[in-house]
Amino acid sequence: MAFIKQEIEINRNTGKPEYDLELTEQVIAATGPDAHPRLAEILPSLVRHLHGFARDVNLTVAEWMAGIELINEAGRMSNDRRDETGLLCDILGLESLVDEITSKLLLNSNITESESGEAITPSAILGPFYRANAPILPNDSSILRTEPGSDWYKQAEHLLAHLSGHVTSATTGKPLRDAMVDIWLAGPNGLYEQQDPSAPDMNLRGRFLTDANGRYALYCIRPTAYPVPGDGPAGRLLKLLDRHPYRPAHIHFIVSKTGYRTLTTQVFDVEDKRVADDVAFAVKKELMVKFKKREGDDRALWDLEYDFTLSEA
Ligand SMILES: [Fe+2]
Repeated sequence: MAFIKQEIEINRNTGKPEYDLELTEQVIAATGPDAHPRLAEILPSLVRHLHGFARDVNLTVAEWMAGIELINEAGRMSNDRRDETGLLCDILGLESLVDEITSKLLLNSNITESESGEAITPSAILGPFYRANAPILPNDSSILRTEPGSDWYKQAEHLLAHLSGHVTSATTGKPLRDAMVDIWLAGPNGLYEQQDPSAPDMNLRGRFLTDANGRYALYCIRPTAYPVPGDGPAGRLLKLLDRHPYRPAHIHFIVSKTGYRTLTTQVFDVEDKRVADDVAFAVKKELMVKFKKREGDDRALWDLEYDFTLSEA
């Protein structure tokens, strides 16, 4: 009987204890014939890895309960303005991994270049700070909603930037009109607007439709590195692991157009020293960008041009 074993068997080859080997197969076999097909496909692997992990580290009840409490606490902290569970996945590299798997699957294995020779813009993680329904703004308008003269604005003044580029089809190489460029980034104090009581709602968020030439353009700020929140289980875990909490300076994008695969990605400021050591493991070399000085524009000191290439759906 699997549940009343008292003695621990030692594997002669590994020298490790062997705990209740029948249990794992019993759990897997409990799945019924009418189970959800994808769940029935993936659950055996999940159970084997979970049980294998517990056996591998000799997980005790107290440690398992600490893990349960960590997940429960992350859930209690999460709502439409904060995603602590997503943040936990980020610092464990899980979102970066599933992003990689998903993009490779969608692009039919390792294809990153289309028939026209246009390189498809790589994806990157969504991250825990996205908010849907950012305001749709005309091109060349600003996503700063703070008052000039405010403390927030004073911190941002030396970072004011113009960002523009084109959205093109990887298939034809031609520009795409009416593609939606959804953009969001953290403020100069390292906080997204929903974390920052001094920032107006939807500050540094906006959506822009490309014009007939496939061009989008806006005013924003040059991003700065920020620490992920330290007041929850993700921050506590980082401290326990003796890890820093910083994400390198980056701007988030979701670029979409009917008939094309929606691209979720980020660009990273190559001059930020944190770019080589992202707490969320999301940096890709193709997504590194260099801001240039902007001349003759009293609304911006920095300039960035970045093009997106979408693959067909
Ligand atoms: Fe971010």
